[in-house]
Amino acid sequence: MAEALIPIARPQFGPEEEAAVLEVMRSGAFAQGARVKAFEDSVAAVSGARFAVATSNGTAALFLALRASGVGPGDEVITSPLTFIATANAIVHAGARPVFSDVDSSLNLDPALVERAITPRTRAIVPVHLHGNPADLQAFEELARRHRLLLIQDACQAIGATFAERPLGSFGTAVYSFYATKNLTTGEGGMVITNDPEVARACASLRHQAYAAQPYLHDAVAFNHRMTEMQAAIGAVQLARLPSLTRRRRETASLYDELVAVNGFTRPAVRREATHVYHQYTLRVRDGARHSRDEVRERLRSAGVASGVYYPVPVHRQPAYREFAQVQCPVAERAASDMFSIPVHPGLTDAERERVIEALNRIAREP
Ligand SMILES: Cc1ncc(COP(=O)(O)O)c(C=O)c1O
Repeated sequence: MAEALIPIARPQFGPEEEAAVLEVMRSGAFAQGARVKAFEDSVAAVSGARFAVATSNGTAALFLALRASGVGPGDEVITSPLTFIATANAIVHAGARPVFSDVDSSLNLDPALVERAITPRTRAIVPVHLHGNPADLQAFEELARRHRLLLIQDACQAIGATFAERPLGSFGTAVYSFYATKNLTTGEGGMVITNDPEVARACASLRHQAYAAQPYLHDAVAFNHRMTEMQAAIGAVQLARLPSLTRRRRETASLYDELVAVNGFTRPAVRREATHVYHQYTLRVRDGARHSRDEVRERLRSAGVASGVYYPVPVHRQPAYREFAQVQCPVAERAASDMFSIPVHPGLTDAERERVIEALNRIAREP
C-alpha cells in the first residue's frame, strides 16, 4: 500500500487546545475580552515589546501598524517583492505606494539596495523575515535611524526568531500572523507588537471601530479587526508550546542541512546573528543541475513527500501589481523559479524525516 503523502504543514493542536476552546464556549464570553488581553501580554513579553495588539489576521495587523504609525497617501514604503502578496496589499490599503527592492542571498531585503531606493517620499521600511529567517535587522535599524524612517517588520512567518540575540520586538514595530500553517496558530489571527505607546493605542482603537470614551461614540472611521476569545485561548496554549515546537523545527533543519551540499542543492544564507525559526525549510536548485526545480518537486511527490514554493511569483510580477511590471529584482525573480520548501513542521515523525531525506538522496542519484 502506498504511504500517505507527508504534508508541507500540519497544525499542532492537542488536548490542551481542545480544552481551552471548550472552556471559552462554556464561558459564554466569545468576543475580544480578558483572554485576548492575557494573550497579548504574553506575546509582548516573549517578543521583547512593551505592547501587543491582537487582530483578526496578519494582513490586518500590518495594515493597522502602518496606519497607526501615520503611513498614508503620498508615502513610499520599501519592501521585498519575495513575499506573500498580503505584505504589499497592506501597504496599498494604507494608501501608500510599495517600492519593491531586491533581496540578497538570504532571500530577504538587501540593506544596500534599500538605501539606494530611499527617496524624499520614503516613510517606512518593511523587511519580511521570509520562511522564518530574520532579515538584517541591525542594518535596517541603522538605516531607519539615519534616514528618519519607520521600521515595521513583517514577522508573519517568524515568531520566536531573534537577531543578535535580541527578540524581534526590540527592533521596532513588528507583526505576526497566526494563520493555520504558521509556527504558532490560532486558525486565523495576527498581532502587532511595538514599544511605541501611541502606535499601540492607535492600533487598538482602529481595530475596534475607534470607540471614544462614551458607548457608541466614535473618534474615527475605523474597522473591525478584533480577535475572538477562542483564538486567544488557543494562542495561549500554543505560545507555551512554542519553544519546544521551534526546537523541533530547528533540529529537523539541521538534519536537512547535512543533505544540502551532498546533493547539489544550495540554501538561502542565514546571517550569523540570526536565529532562524524555520517556518519553511527552503532549498534552491543550482544552475545547470540535472533536475529542474519542478522535476525535483514531481519526483518528491511520487516518493510521497509534499513540497511548496513560497512564493512562485514575486509581487511585482503579479497581475494585481501590473503597474510594477517594469521593476527589476533579478535575485528575487531567480529565487522564485529555483527554490522549493520541504516539510519541516514539528508534526513530522522521525520516520517521516527519514523518508524526506531518503527521497532527496534518491533524486540526487537518479538520472
Ligand atoms: C510574509 C507574510 N505576510 C503577511 C501574511 C498575512 O497574514 P494573514 O494570512 O494572517 O493575513 C502572511 C501569512 O499568510 C505572510 O506569510
